[in-house]
Amino acid sequence: MAYSTIYEAAGGAPAIRDLVERFYPKVQEHPLLAPLFPEDITPVMEKQYQFLSQFFGGPTLYSDEHGHPMMRGRHLRFPITEERAEAWLDCMRRALAETSLPEDLQALMLERLSGPAHHFVNS
Ligand code: HEM
Repeated sequence: MAYSTIYEAAGGAPAIRDLVERFYPKVQEHPLLAPLFPEDITPVMEKQYQFLSQFFGGPTLYSDEHGHPMMRGRHLRFPITEERAEAWLDCMRRALAETSLPEDLQALMLERLSGPAHHFVNS
């Protein structure tokens, strides 16, 4: 079966929601990442759900509510090192591994996120 977007191939909204719910507990347990995030992670999870939906070709939920993503700019107030970018990607890799998404799709999603993660390095 051919899909036109990663969002569709992954299974749409419930799949992105599930991924985000598996990702943030790992971020919150990570010694390099946890100190950057607020205790109440719920609003961050909601924004990430909106952003990843549109990033993977689904509905433009993030831009509709928050305007142009300008994601590197929105990350400038946090000291993002190369180590933190790798840590972020490793949390995402482990979150993806917990899902039942096909491995080639997991690899593709991770590869797509790898560019932005390294681009956000600012410290
Ligand atoms: C490179 C390592 C990364 C670190 C250390 C990091 C860290 C953070 C932090 C600390 C926040 C703010 C939490 C708050 O609201 O207080 C945030 C927000 C966010 N991050 Fe990241 N992030 C990284 C990479 C990424 C990547 C690769 C993406 C997606 C491609 C992403 C998407 C988002 C989104 C959508 C938000 C919410 C932005 C908003 O406030 O509207 N982040 N991130």
